[in-house]
Amino acid sequence: MPYQVFIETFGCQMNEYDTELVRSLLTKNGFVFTGDQSQADVVLMNTCAIRENAHNKVYGHLGECRVLKRERKVVVGVLGCMAQNLKKELMESDPVIDVLVGPDGYRQLPELLTRALEHQEKSLAVDLSEYETYEYILPDRGPGVNAWIAVMRGCDNFCSFCVVPYTRGRERSRTPEGILEEAQSLASRGYKQITLLGQNVNSYSSENWDFARLLTAVADIPGIERVRFTSPHPKDFPPSLLEAVAQHPRICRQIHLPLQAGNDRILDLMGRSYTRKDFLSLVEDIRRRGDIALSTDVICGFCSETDAEYLETYELLKALEFQAAYIFKYSERKHTIASRKYADDVPAQVKTERVARLIDLQKDISSKLNHRLIGQSVDVLIEGHAKKSRDQWMGHTESNVTVVWNKADSFTQPGNLVPVAVAEASASTLFGLRVASPLSLVCPD
Ligand code: SAH
Ligand code: SF4
Ligand code: F3S
Repeated sequence: MPYQVFIETFGCQMNEYDTELVRSLLTKNGFVFTGDQSQADVVLMNTCAIRENAHNKVYGHLGECRVLKRERKVVVGVLGCMAQNLKKELMESDPVIDVLVGPDGYRQLPELLTRALEHQEKSLAVDLSEYETYEYILPDRGPGVNAWIAVMRGCDNFCSFCVVPYTRGRERSRTPEGILEEAQSLASRGYKQITLLGQNVNSYSSENWDFARLLTAVADIPGIERVRFTSPHPKDFPPSLLEAVAQHPRICRQIHLPLQAGNDRILDLMGRSYTRKDFLSLVEDIRRRGDIALSTDVICGFCSETDAEYLETYELLKALEFQAAYIFKYSERKHTIASRKYADDVPAQVKTERVARLIDLQKDISSKLNHRLIGQSVDVLIEGHAKKSRDQWMGHTESNVTVVWNKADSFTQPGNLVPVAVAEASASTLFGLRVASPLSLVCPD
């Protein structure tokens, strides 16, 4: 009987992608996957370390594993960024863990799991590599409309608050050949939307290929309807990249542009390498090229941030009117520059209040922008059934807003790009009616 593996993924899309790599590596070595934890011989967690609550989720699951292990023999493995960041300390702190493997060690996983299963051997693989890109390991993906491709791994920016350079190591890019081959194979299997991934995706570089060239080449592949990318750093937006986003019909006119803070002293302490003015002129440059939707990330309550400095961030978010903003409380992370150099001195309650005010502000902005679309038609790539009802479709606009509408015919299917008339809006979702158009009347088969 092959060993059955249950895997749970936490964190960002890069971790989702890595889970697909792990599935591929283990399947090739005779393991099979199960969606039922109670059947599993191996329970894996692919973990995140970005904020304290990411750690807490994993501690919760390790508690469940202890209960499981009391009932029967099961091997528990912790993968990913938290494994890499805490290394031996995590393994020693919890005897339930048998195998600990960081993001660059997945090729060793089949062997380490086999040793744990057959000889009860504990092991860890947490060496970071300057070269590992898992080139030519085709991730094991379920069928669908969306797929992601990691084009580079690691980060050399060392923003002072961020643990990623320590959990993912140095920046390295895959070859364009390997990426395009993967994208072509996705197109031939019917995927319609590809998201290019990297911790610092737009610093992609391989011989004379930069990110703009790579993005365009992926978008040129026949069959691919939409291409997106995440997460870029504001420092790497040459005009060629902005042109590609503005002009290419299949590159979504949408950019996630993490701001982090709107005050120059805080930006400097964060090591973000741009000022408020630099960020503003980049946004102007983008918006001069037409209607390109922007979203952002913000951290509240970074070390020594005053009320006045926070208000600068608040005012900037108010002025820039992002389509969406992800707002986080600063969470001190082990190893980071900030944890070594600055005091985490903004009281928890102040952080919470700052986050709440920004979330309220952003809700109003998103809601206002979405309400403006009422009465208009938006093109939506159908991704599947709505969460709440199988009688409704769900998809996203090019600007990445969720759209939900009632199914009206029997031939429309996931993967179709269809016009939808917006009838109602909330801060997060557009509710629509399907527009009868020549496009919608063509039977996809
Ligand atoms: N590479 C991306 C960010 C990846 S992490 C970039 O450069 O923008 C995603 C977001 O998590 C970050 O943009 C930041 O807003 C937030 N984040 C990272 N470290 C954090 C920390 N220590 N505390 C709170 N939020 C953090
Ligand atoms: Fe972290 Fe900064 Fe790298 Fe983004 S660019 S992953 S925030 S260090
Ligand atoms: Fe988390 Fe690692 Fe992604 S820390 S956000 S899983 S790169």
